[in-house]
Amino acid sequence: MKAFTMAAVLAATVALPSVGMATDLEVTHWWTSGGEAAAVAEFAKAFDATGNHWVDGAIAGSGDVARPIIISRIMGGNPMGATQLNPGKDADDLIAAGLMQDLTDLATAEDWAHILRPASQLESCTKDGKVYCVPVNLHSAQWMWTNRKVFTDLGMEPPKDINELLALAPKLQEAGIQPLSLAQGWPVGLMVNDILVAQAGVDNFVKVYKDRDLAIAGGPEFGKIFETLASIRQYTPADKMVPQWNEAVGLVIQGKAAANIMGDWAGGEFQVAKMVAGTDYDCLPGLGVTPVLNTGGDVFYFPKSADPAVTEAQLKLASTLVTKEVQVAFNLKKGSLPMRADVDLSAANDCMKKGLEILDHSSAVFPNDIQMIDRDSLNQINDLFTEFMANPDMAAADAQAKFVSIIEAAPK
Ligand code: GAL
Repeated sequence: MKAFTMAAVLAATVALPSVGMATDLEVTHWWTSGGEAAAVAEFAKAFDATGNHWVDGAIAGSGDVARPIIISRIMGGNPMGATQLNPGKDADDLIAAGLMQDLTDLATAEDWAHILRPASQLESCTKDGKVYCVPVNLHSAQWMWTNRKVFTDLGMEPPKDINELLALAPKLQEAGIQPLSLAQGWPVGLMVNDILVAQAGVDNFVKVYKDRDLAIAGGPEFGKIFETLASIRQYTPADKMVPQWNEAVGLVIQGKAAANIMGDWAGGEFQVAKMVAGTDYDCLPGLGVTPVLNTGGDVFYFPKSADPAVTEAQLKLASTLVTKEVQVAFNLKKGSLPMRADVDLSAANDCMKKGLEILDHSSAVFPNDIQMIDRDSLNQINDLFTEFMANPDMAAADAQAKFVSIIEAAPK
């Protein structure tokens, strides 16, 4: 019996020579800002500690640039070992083409369904009952970031919400401070959507994006918000827009702009700048109007490999990403909320505490846009908002009518 076991072990060792040895795994992601790079370094450190080697495949220029590169590499037969994507529909075609590693056995063995929350994130990874990705964090997009000193230097109370900021905007501008900073591309869409959520409420926003309610999209309430956006245009003119989201956050950190509307990943930049939440800056969920958060975030997929050593390393990485220690170390630097409730968050800052509190009220939590509508329609909405915010001659009513037609044409 003993001899048989020994022989079996030897046979397995001979059949799979590289299994159990250090494996290089190229990991692609778009985390290249200061805060993002600090956070992803925690993943790399933890994976290297397993005896494998994280080969960093950072793609500069954020998700809009990285996503098509990642998808075409996998489709084209040149896959990486692992890759970041957002929870939602982005990997559907890759899964349907049989190109992605099935993580179901690992997810079951580690009981992801019970240790990871909210359920929406693992559901986004699950197709036909099989798990294809591991959620690593919960990110929300509905935050306004303000630099307190900018206001106090001018003898103003720092605003508690977007409406107070807009009331102060003319005076800020007079003093040579940009009231709101803005970056080109997807950050415009993010800002417009955040204002829609803050002014029209979560229910109406979800009715439009998820249920495709055209009466609300084209109705008077949304119409009023398009008018508000038209008045915000003067503070964010095209020639003041910066190329990257983190540059727009940087203007607030440097005190050149008073506020920025950006997801909670902006918190990572304030931390790198050694600023303290609630003292040096404020993070206002739901733009301070109603505290809400959406279930954005990041997940990791693992393209299938014919090499069993790679598959083993992929499973090791998937497992490492959701361990308690790694969840805490990564999320504290990333500005996102951890996927597990059973971790030590004594080092959480003000913003993370606010986020965790909202997470306890499920009525204040709503789906990420890519969980409700396809990427192509989202890109069209973003292009429309970009045109509207950059072109002072475009009427609010025209923008609203185009918005309605994109929502109407979006595949269900
Ligand atoms: C999002 C991602 C975040 C953050 C942001 C800006 O798509 O979920 O983790 O990195 O892009 O790069």
